[in-house]
Amino acid sequence: MLTFEPRNSTWDMAYNFDLPVSRQGTSSVKYDSRKEVFGTDNVIPMWLADMDFLCPPFIVEALRKRLDHEILGYTIRRREYFTSLSDWIRRRHSWDIENDWISFSPGIVPALNICTLAFTGQGDKIIIQPPVYFPFFNAITDHKRVPVYNRLIEEKGTWKIDFDDLEHKAAGGVKMLILCNPHNPVGRAWTAAELEQLADICLRHDILILSDEIHSDLVLPAYRHIPLADLSERAAASTITCMAPSKTFNIAGLSTSSVIISNPDLKKKFDTCMQSLRITGGNIFGNEASIAAYSHGDEWLDEMLSYVNRNIEYVLEKFRNNKLIRPVPPEATYMIWLDCRAMGMKPDELNKFFVDEAAVGMSEGSVFGPGGEGFMRMNVACRLDTVKEAVENMETALLKLENK
Ligand SMILES: Cc1ncc(COP(=O)(O)O)c(C=O)c1O
Repeated sequence: MLTFEPRNSTWDMAYNFDLPVSRQGTSSVKYDSRKEVFGTDNVIPMWLADMDFLCPPFIVEALRKRLDHEILGYTIRRREYFTSLSDWIRRRHSWDIENDWISFSPGIVPALNICTLAFTGQGDKIIIQPPVYFPFFNAITDHKRVPVYNRLIEEKGTWKIDFDDLEHKAAGGVKMLILCNPHNPVGRAWTAAELEQLADICLRHDILILSDEIHSDLVLPAYRHIPLADLSERAAASTITCMAPSKTFNIAGLSTSSVIISNPDLKKKFDTCMQSLRITGGNIFGNEASIAAYSHGDEWLDEMLSYVNRNIEYVLEKFRNNKLIRPVPPEATYMIWLDCRAMGMKPDELNKFFVDEAAVGMSEGSVFGPGGEGFMRMNVACRLDTVKEAVENMETALLKLENK
């Protein structure tokens, strides 16, 4: 049995993740869009995937230093932008990349859309694995490509890839597969064996793999991130990898991310498409933040992950014997996929229940596509006190429901 009280506010950490910081009125999507999204401001926001922790001080310092110069003209990405990222990937994920494999993108969602434009044509089929991060759907349908669903399967609380179905669908003339590695929202950090099987199927059927690895740095202490492109040279030649400091260091508002492509032909296609849209510029603060994050971020990230892991353990423990909510233990990401199917509610009812009865605003599962119905995604990248308050509200609401 885990005990969570009393606890030292920082348990000998160098950084303090318990510091209460009000985000209301800071143009924060997560906080200041609550009324629009949930119909009320009176919910603990545990939906959008950003964190309530202060941005690491070494990033703030780098931004202040740059701002002190007081001229914010057009900017270039200096050498450190590339070397800090490649060193980070080597250090954190044991993947050796060359600096000239790296392209800039003003975000991973933009990168997914650019890749659809650069590597596929109208009417082409693209496989995705729902339930999955919902902009994957738009990156296909908004450009008149055809989504093909290789639905994940759930067995006793664990989510897996349905390889028989993938083999079958891959044989149907598919151009690209968009992989979410680690997977949002089911929280899997795919194993080498799973990735090898997926890559094998794609390579045999000449399918490009667009691997969204934005959550790669957020793999929880007992697990490991495996970059798909690091499996083999063959896999690398057919893979486009997306990575970013945005989730890792809570700097999503700086719109700065990277696309890593070792195949020169694919890289040229990607870069040409970016050029044609004139969106390669980036911004001074994103560049500086990225360099600072990747140069100095190890200790902060390790501490943040252990803090978040403790929040996750708290939620798992609280719902361990609950019959209505069964959390799926995540291997990565700071989100917990809550199986609420036993509550027997339709998606809208479920969302409304948590908003009205528990004052907790989460992401409702059906937005992640087929297979997401009956689930809620809970973001626990916040103070443990906030997680406790949300869980207590949920427990009280569930008791009321059971006694009705
Ligand atoms: C899998 C995945 N890709 C991309 C993003 C967002 O990327 P960006 O903000 O860089 O567009 C998210 C955010 O939650 C995500 O979960």
